[in-house]
Amino acid sequence: MRRILNFGSMNLDTVYTVDHFVRPGETLPSLEMEVFPGGKGLNQSVALARAGAEVYHAGKIGRDGKFLLNLLQSAGVDTSFVEVINGHTGKAIIQVEESTGQNGILLYHGANWQMTELFLDEVLAGFPGDGILVMQNEINLGGYLLERAANKGMQIALTPSPIDDSLLQWELGQVTWLLLNEVEGEALTGKTQPEEILDSLLGQYPEMRVVLTLGEKGAFYADREKRLNQPAIPAQAVDTTGAGDTFAGYFLAGIARGQNEAEAMEEAAQAAAIAVSRFGAAVSVPTRQEVMQALKEEKSARVRA
Ligand code: RIB
Repeated sequence: MRRILNFGSMNLDTVYTVDHFVRPGETLPSLEMEVFPGGKGLNQSVALARAGAEVYHAGKIGRDGKFLLNLLQSAGVDTSFVEVINGHTGKAIIQVEESTGQNGILLYHGANWQMTELFLDEVLAGFPGDGILVMQNEINLGGYLLERAANKGMQIALTPSPIDDSLLQWELGQVTWLLLNEVEGEALTGKTQPEEILDSLLGQYPEMRVVLTLGEKGAFYADREKRLNQPAIPAQAVDTTGAGDTFAGYFLAGIARGQNEAEAMEEAAQAAAIAVSRFGAAVSVPTRQEVMQALKEEKSARVRA
């Protein structure tokens, strides 16, 4: 099992359940409100750990975010690279549409954008060169982090979200695994069809391994030798927040333990199907035991059908 360093965001998610996403000029009463732990970084660390990976989380929170540390620790994540600073923890205001479980997210960076080159260098120096770096784009200095980790010989897994002008300048040729959805695929390639997105990315970056998630339409894995399609596992979606992070964490944990891509994709799809059937981001991530049990039941239901 290879060690994983996840350098990423930690947020307090205030989730409003709504009849529909609020429109410009509209005042909309919400149906429910709850605060959950979140942040793409934290969600992926929890998913990696629940999937059985050895994961170290690095990043910053304010004093108002200490319960995020407790959550990471209780999931089995090493938090010795998390710094608590004066200032606010990152925040997300999330609308979840009651009928579909779809979400819209508004971010406040807070402590997630207080990274310094010194902090990034110190964390990387404490890590073995053959480890895997997992990153997203919710902390500042992401391009610097990518370059320094690649120079150190680490393999890098990137979820390019959110896509902004700075990310478009990053040296994506240094990324080993790119995990993205259709919207991010279109922003990076200008293409809308899954096969075209994959062709375009592999045309530009032939060494890259790409995981493209398509929600209810499943997911693709592609590298220069093979292309795999993983159908979505049917689920009653109540909240899709964090489903992509759950998929990413389970896929990468599978790769870190030596599974092949098809096996890792299947577990990731099952984990994401469970996650969308529960409210919240990090708290909706299932344990590997739940995932294995659900896969077993799903397979025997298929045999009976
Ligand atoms: O990917 C879902 C996450 O995006 C939420 O938890 C929110 O905090 C934002 O970072």
